[in-house]
Amino acid sequence: MIELQDVSKAYYLGQTPVPVLKQISLHIQKGEFVAIMGSSGSGKSTLLNIIGCLDTVDSGRYSLSGTAVSDVPEKSLAILRNRYLGFIFQSFNLIPRISAERNVELPMIYAGVDPDVRKNRMLAALDIVGLKDRAQHTSADLSGGQQQRVAIARAIVNDPDIIIADEPTGALDSRNSQEVMRLFQQLNASGKTIVMVTHEDDIARYAHRVLIVDDGSIVNL
Ligand SMILES: Nc1ncnc2c1ncn2[C@@H]1O[C@H](COP(=O)(O)OP(=O)(O)OP(=O)(O)O)[C@@H](O)[C@H]1O
Ligand SMILES: [Mg+2]
Repeated sequence: MIELQDVSKAYYLGQTPVPVLKQISLHIQKGEFVAIMGSSGSGKSTLLNIIGCLDTVDSGRYSLSGTAVSDVPEKSLAILRNRYLGFIFQSFNLIPRISAERNVELPMIYAGVDPDVRKNRMLAALDIVGLKDRAQHTSADLSGGQQQRVAIARAIVNDPDIIIADEPTGALDSRNSQEVMRLFQQLNASGKTIVMVTHEDDIARYAHRVLIVDDGSIVNL
């Protein structure tokens, strides 16, 4: 489902390229739950952003569900993201001042889903994360754990094949972290492929496979 072959990426300091990912080859099968670990600055988020079609490769090939992403022009990546991917970030990234239900509805508006279908799917997604009764609340009225569960509802509402999560528990206490991981396990059991970056061993333990990134390369355990 996710196939990287010799993927490299550099950032530029003036004219000087600074390599961040060095010929990474990686294969993630449909239904896997993979954790990516490694020290700060090793390239985890850069790798995850490439897998999530949020960033592009400099060289090498990336193929997602049979589509050669590395050949897709940058402006068309949004179509792939909408079709295949749901995103969860450390800082939740909900839109403030609009309700939980509006936040969950937005990806469906972008995807052109009918208004009456939208409402049912929004309620179903909020129900999965246990927040149906908080649909009208804005971020200011929700705890961190609740905000992350709204973000999970938003990530799954278009029924993506793959969930991309960058330190999804990084801003949560242990109880809320475990709760978010239980939701991830449930989503994975329902067939979603999950690729998650984490710093925490007890969070990585929920994954079936752990990849370690060290200075832009994947190290074998
Ligand atoms: N947009 C950018 N422009 C220039 N350099 C960048 C950019 N994004 C990341 N980098 C550099 O690339 C390297 C890898 O960054 P990345 O964010 O992938 O690391 P990370 O493993 O996710 O780290 P952390 O655990 O701190 O989140 C770092 O040295 C970082 O400074
Ligand atoms: Mg990072």
